[in-house]
Amino acid sequence: MKTEYLTQNEISAAADILRRGGLVGIPTETVYGLGANALDVDAVGRIFKAKGRPQDNPLIIHIPDVSWLDRYCRDIPQAAYVLARRFWPGPMTMVLPRRDNVPDVVTAGLDTVGIRCPGHALCRKIIELADVPVAAPSGNLSGRPSPTTAAHMLEDMDGRIDAIVDGGSCGVGVESTIIDLTCTPPRLLRPGGVTLEQLCEVLGQVEIDPAVRRLMAAGEKPKAPGMAYRHYAPRAPVTVVTGDPEKSAAYIAARARDCEGVICFDEFVHMFNGQTGKTRIMDLGACADKEEQARHIFDALRAFDHTDVTAIWAQCPDTEGIGLAVVNRLSKAAGFHVIEV
Ligand code: TXA
Ligand code: MG
Repeated sequence: MKTEYLTQNEISAAADILRRGGLVGIPTETVYGLGANALDVDAVGRIFKAKGRPQDNPLIIHIPDVSWLDRYCRDIPQAAYVLARRFWPGPMTMVLPRRDNVPDVVTAGLDTVGIRCPGHALCRKIIELADVPVAAPSGNLSGRPSPTTAAHMLEDMDGRIDAIVDGGSCGVGVESTIIDLTCTPPRLLRPGGVTLEQLCEVLGQVEIDPAVRRLMAAGEKPKAPGMAYRHYAPRAPVTVVTGDPEKSAAYIAARARDCEGVICFDEFVHMFNGQTGKTRIMDLGACADKEEQARHIFDALRAFDHTDVTAIWAQCPDTEGIGLAVVNRLSKAAGFHVIEV
């Protein structure tokens, strides 16, 4: 199949393809998504095929407006509307009881559905024009880092999808925060652009799903099935080093060998340049700027796949704010191989 490249001025073509049951790469504020009409069972089936995604991993439904929420969800608690008012459109997915019109293939048979209203105006416009809810996982091949540009999505999906809309690079860079509102207290299933601290301001208490911070044991099931998979992973094994940035930089500098890669903060790039002639360095952004680190994390992991590095070392922020999402994605890329200095 030839993948059509569409500009921001050609979104009506994208909407047509969605309505006809095709697959479209769509820009969102978090990462690029692989969209299809959520109510079209065959179209949704093609998402799983194009990604090589396990059938037991449910998809998030994207809506252009909070007014669509009760079309697909029922027994919606007041807290959902409060969250939506505060954080939508934006990088937050709510898990709620689903209505019967949501196909099983979308929810992987669960009686809940993940739903979000994206903060990318072009994306909402595409959904509005298509006039159907859009199921969209991240637009990477299963297991690869999520794409934050159209070019990155095409690396994985060229020839596998009908079209892609180029909406520029994603402003947030990590996927949406997933909050499960079907349990008490509500549970954070995946940290993302909306921070835990922000959620707590609205919800009071929030429980953190164990899969956010550690590897699941054999037989243990996280509430977000996707959190169980080794994920976001570049080809080379990753070691994450946490703690004081000066110390983690020194720790890595003492160990990184030729032909190994380093992901580090701005301030420490100079320590790796020249020291180990062939080491590849990816700059995550300034130490104090976690938003910038979030924007770069997937690009850094993806970039190493174009090199022959045999191992990757990564500095890591603390878990405050969007730091929790950066730590989670890095730790998952490392299979939770994390060293504290
Ligand atoms: O930012 C995002 O959320 C991006 C963009 C494209 O919107 N989408 C995204 O989708 O990250 P995906 O499929 O890559 O990740 C969705 C995660 C998976 O871990 C999945 O298991 C979980 O959400 N999930 C979906 N529906 C769920 C449900 N009903 N209950 C629990 N977890 C759910
Ligand atoms: Mg994904």
